Amino acid sequence: MISLATADIPIKAWLNLSKCLLTKRIGRGDFVKEFEENMADYFGAKYAIATCNGTMADTVMLMTLHEMYPDKDQVILPAFTFVAHSNSVVNAGLKPIFVDIGENYQIDWKQVIPTDKTLCVFPANLLGKSCQIPSWPEIPILEDCCESMGGSTFCRMFGTEGIAGSFSMFPSHTITTGEGGLIITNNSEFNEIARSVMNHGKFRTNDFTFSYFGTNAKMTNLQAAVGCSLVEKIDEVNKKRRRNVELYNHLLGLNFYAEAPHCYPILYPSKNSRDSALKLLGYNGIEARKLMGCIPEYEFYQKRFGDMGYFPHASLVANTGLFVPVHQNLSQKDIKKICVVLNATRQ
Ligand SMILES: Cc1ncc(COP(=O)(O)O)c(C=O)c1O
Repeated sequence: MISLATADIPIKAWLNLSKCLLTKRIGRGDFVKEFEENMADYFGAKYAIATCNGTMADTVMLMTLHEMYPDKDQVILPAFTFVAHSNSVVNAGLKPIFVDIGENYQIDWKQVIPTDKTLCVFPANLLGKSCQIPSWPEIPILEDCCESMGGSTFCRMFGTEGIAGSFSMFPSHTITTGEGGLIITNNSEFNEIARSVMNHGKFRTNDFTFSYFGTNAKMTNLQAAVGCSLVEKIDEVNKKRRRNVELYNHLLGLNFYAEAPHCYPILYPSKNSRDSALKLLGYNGIEARKLMGCIPEYEFYQKRFGDMGYFPHASLVANTGLFVPVHQNLSQKDIKKICVVLNATRQ
């Protein structure tokens, strides 16, 4: 089986994990602080907050901003995304307002129209590509970089442009701690509130006084022990993944680009041809997935929010697209095999 995800476990991870086990620090512990400091340094950000996964990083960012602006409860985000991104808005007790995407799989900024109720715009750098935040927004931006750790355009690192950015360390992402997440910010008020929100809203760590609506999003010392061994690998992984994308482009005659590739997307002429391609890939032992989703088309979203608008491009991409792996441990032979199957599905 050629899988979508991979895990790099350096010797340093084994040593760090042994230390956790020997000292019995498997919940809270020093590796969490070390991981946060290393990641803040990597991003050149003032603060980094480790969380248990990317969904909770998103949720904590939104809950934190809502504590800062309690009279605003709407969040503008792309209709085409991974469901965890939009679920985090609902998890945080806020209302999603969807807008369509443009040609590059990213939120179409021309369609973003904030109102008095808008808490923030919440784009994602989907598939590891830049969401191209324009310079105009007066409105707060929270940036979901769960699929794009280490991505940068010539003038900015993903996650550093808005008030805060979130990351995931799920196995298909740039580095993995099994499950894991991170928030980065340069805003000291945001950092202070987020640290409380992610720890049940506690006023102080070891105090049963509560200041904010909170949740439990804490990263364990075991996750952080693995994370500490991987920070130095981020750029190397992205470089290998970009090289894999180039090989796909060459073998398929396509022209995809992502700064921090999360997958390789392919669009088909119809839903049927996409679904047949997924089957053929599966028969050949190649893991592939439908290309995210058009969230307002999900029945459970319609049940809760009713008709949320018409998003033709998001719908088209979600219903005719699939993705195949780009991870750093694929061999050239793997990619060639995947391309033989893909080319057979594209005739
Ligand atoms: C865009 C986006 N946001 C959020 C998440 C959630 O991350 P996690 O799986 O770590 O909860 C993902 C996960 O793949 C994602 O792709």
